[in-house]
Amino acid sequence: MSDPTYHPLAPSSELEEGKGRPYELDGHRIALVRHEGVVYAIDDLCPHADASLAFGPVENGCIACPWHYAEFRLATGEVLSGPSPRGLRTYAVEEANGEVSVCLELTAAGEPAKTSPDE
Ligand code: FES
Repeated sequence: MSDPTYHPLAPSSELEEGKGRPYELDGHRIALVRHEGVVYAIDDLCPHADASLAFGPVENGCIACPWHYAEFRLATGEVLSGPSPRGLRTYAVEEANGEVSVCLELTAAGEPAKTSPDE
């Protein structure tokens, strides 16, 4: 397998502490979220009814959906509470030289990404 590719997605300065922003990369809607200094990349669309998670409140390692408050763990995408039928994909992130890059082929844990979290 070839080395995973990291795609530059945002300047570091665009990501404020405790907030998310939505981006698009190769047809994937991705929310970048900076929490306690670390940048996380997760699916932006909530599996419940497609709200943009990038605009949800961030607290204690989790992000909540701004519509019906499903709660997800940022590091794993696991759904913790609320009406979402499943968790989120996570993506590997690198932050270096003032730039945040995301890898579509790896999860935040560095494992090969599945095309769907249900697989
Ligand atoms: S759209 Fe996210 S919980 Fe309903």
